[in-house]
Amino acid sequence: MKIAVLGSGGREHALTWKLEQSNLVTKVYTIPGNGGTRNNVNIDLRDFEKIKQFCLKEKIDLIFVGPEDPLVNGIVDFFSDTGIKVFGPDKTGALLEGSKIFAKRFMRQYGVATADFWEFGNISFDEGLLNYKSEDLSKFANTPKKYQKVIDKLQGNCVIKYNGLAAGKGVYVCNCREEAQKAIIDIQYKYGTEASYLIEEKLLGDELSILAFTDGIDYQLLQPSQDHKQLLENDKGPNTGGMGAFCPVPFFTPKLKSAIVQDIIKPTLQGIQQERMNYRGVLYFGLMITESGPKLLEYNVRLGDPETEVVLPALKNDFAQLVLSCFDGSLPELKMQFHQETYIDVVLVSGGYPYEYKKGYQIFGLDNIADDVILFHAGTKKENQKIFTAGGRVLNVVAQAESLNEAIQKAYERVNKFHFKKMFYRKDIGKRRK
Ligand code: AMP
Ligand code: GLY
Repeated sequence: MKIAVLGSGGREHALTWKLEQSNLVTKVYTIPGNGGTRNNVNIDLRDFEKIKQFCLKEKIDLIFVGPEDPLVNGIVDFFSDTGIKVFGPDKTGALLEGSKIFAKRFMRQYGVATADFWEFGNISFDEGLLNYKSEDLSKFANTPKKYQKVIDKLQGNCVIKYNGLAAGKGVYVCNCREEAQKAIIDIQYKYGTEASYLIEEKLLGDELSILAFTDGIDYQLLQPSQDHKQLLENDKGPNTGGMGAFCPVPFFTPKLKSAIVQDIIKPTLQGIQQERMNYRGVLYFGLMITESGPKLLEYNVRLGDPETEVVLPALKNDFAQLVLSCFDGSLPELKMQFHQETYIDVVLVSGGYPYEYKKGYQIFGLDNIADDVILFHAGTKKENQKIFTAGGRVLNVVAQAESLNEAIQKAYERVNKFHFKKMFYRKDIGKRRK
């Protein structure tokens, strides 16, 4: 089987690495790929027609879509008459990530445990989607009074979210009324005064990422993982795409798992069926484990990054078989198997990220990589057999060990072997909770 992986991050390097280990796979292309992936094909991910021509010419059997954008833009629908399997939801399913308001209405309609919310701005979806009709707030859009009432009710302890895709930059976690007010002004400044957004009650607890493979009816879970979204130690500083991750997570008990299945995963799959989404892909549940149980913060319709860089090494199963089982009805019978070790990923980033940073610095230490570390490239570029920085998140250093503590120690010993100008990383990945 020939596969094309779409994307260029650490997630996509991990995907190609795992797919290449399968006996079912003869060749993996990456579109456009990075300095660590092989068989790169330089096509813009917005150019579906060109991707289609390439895939038909090369007789690609399966496309694994890494990032959310092509899914939200309807790549699954676009390929529906080609006979090529595209792993991911259709355009309607992708709204679970593409529109935060759609996702919250979906959660409310199907009884998925989540934070209370209020919506603002003009929102319209295709007719037929979701029976749930929210209170019509559009007439209040952008009138200070209405949102002020909600902010006051929550005493400023709220989370404000821009409705559309914003690469993690459209979410504002606020601690007081002033911060909330500023967040709304910022959204309107960036996305226009008509921009739609949500105000949510702020939840407290530990975050957890649960990734499921689904055929739209059944599902199989990967190991529970934890991301580290903030730039600086002790979860300080601006939000990033993710500075590191580890799996499995020690506080994931059987009791917690069963609450997540009952209160979040099962109602989500019921909703997917009732809304007639064509969903063969990954469902990512971004959870907050609160005192009153697990609550869903967000859906993603693809694998997480950097979670993928730990959950794929931890998976024993043939990965291509797992993906194919979402198409041929064999998913429920599949037995999921995992390595016993703990896996941790420390992300090395360009100094200045997530704001402005320079690219083009040579990366050293790539020649003699220790056998016990896996290196996944993200923002890198290969030129004349040398590797240079080409993005914010540059490298993922992944280590494994019997215990979380040993894995942490090993990862940080290996991190010091790599170097590029202005390299930066967090020193406390995995240390949040023991
Ligand atoms: P999202 O993109 O919706 O996952 O939000 C990004 C981050 O904002 C999450 O990983 C949380 O750290 C935080 N966040 C989002 N929603 C809430 C909420 N209702 N309560 C507390 N924190 C939240
Ligand atoms: N690691 C969070 C995400 O991929 O959205």
